[in-house]
Amino acid sequence: MKNVAILGMGTMGPGIAATLARGGMTVRATDTRQEALAQASSLIEGAFSVLNALQMPAKGDNTAITLHDTLEACVAGADLVIETIPEDLELKLDLLTRLDGLVSPDCMLASDTSGIPITKLQKGNSHPGRVIGMHWSNPPHIIPIIEVVAGAETEPKTVERITTLISDINLIPIPIKKDVPGFVENRVLYAIMRECVDLVEEGVIDAEALDQCVSWGIGYKLSVVGPMALLDMAGLDIYQAVGSYLNKELSARADVNPVITEKTAQGHLGIKSGSGIFNYTPEKIVALRKARAQKLIAVRKALEND
Ligand SMILES: NC(=O)c1ccc[n+]([C@@H]2O[C@H](COP(=O)([O-])OP(=O)(O)OC[C@H]3O[C@@H](n4cnc5c(N)ncnc54)[C@H](O)[C@@H]3O)[C@@H](O)[C@H]2O)c1
Repeated sequence: MKNVAILGMGTMGPGIAATLARGGMTVRATDTRQEALAQASSLIEGAFSVLNALQMPAKGDNTAITLHDTLEACVAGADLVIETIPEDLELKLDLLTRLDGLVSPDCMLASDTSGIPITKLQKGNSHPGRVIGMHWSNPPHIIPIIEVVAGAETEPKTVERITTLISDINLIPIPIKKDVPGFVENRVLYAIMRECVDLVEEGVIDAEALDQCVSWGIGYKLSVVGPMALLDMAGLDIYQAVGSYLNKELSARADVNPVITEKTAQGHLGIKSGSGIFNYTPEKIVALRKARAQKLIAVRKALEND
């Protein structure tokens, strides 16, 4: 497997492209928005500098990525296509249907969906066995895990080829055994987010203090001791005693907290719009991105030195 096409050069695409090119793949990429294509080169360069800082070994001498205006030109000769377009089932199905007629039957079609079951994305594909979930974590050139999700019709050889590719580029494949919505990373993250937003909305804690509590409390600890190992570290008897009175107190709301719904309706989307939970100036955004990348790199290096 050598030729990879990446569809979508938004938040995720450039980092995925840089990581795969660094791993020795020949990468072609496209986007339907000219603005995204225009910005892609500098975002890819930024991702390459982070990979340099991570001392990610370069395989072969192939670090070039070509950008293409059309889907047809982008996927020509592809062994693997990764779609990382917006999280919208209809949009993704439409793209996968178009791809079906453009690529060879043994070209694998991977989706970076955050949690749409892969079985839904296989519908209507002439070779559903080649459709697979390849869920990267943001920023994709820094976070080393990729969830590998088989849909009902995904062939074992597709799972094997994607898993091998991920290991070959020194990343960590996470096998997901059931095609459940949200897979695993996002189910855990969204359970945490739901509780956090409710706690802030109910006035239990301020947003800044909550971030400090979670980052320095469970976040820092979980990066070294995972939740299952943490159960053993704390003692199952303690978990049982606390869980027996606490679990029923935790948020179980099925909707999204109105705080988020209202801000979204008003266009307060976070960093991308200059305000969300917090406020951002353009200078602050640049400084935050840099500082966060540096800290993530430092933490990853420390964890890899185990
Ligand atoms: N943002 C994250 O933190 C994150 C993390 C992991 C996975 N994901 C998933 O990755 C996917 C992409 O997310 P994102 O945050 O990069 O979205 P984004 O909106 O930032 O970027 C998507 C890009 O796809 C382009 N696009 C739309 N239709 C297209 C088409 N038919 N062909 C080519 N390009 C097209 C858009 O113009 C846009 O630039 C989603 O499924 C998302 O759920 C996102």
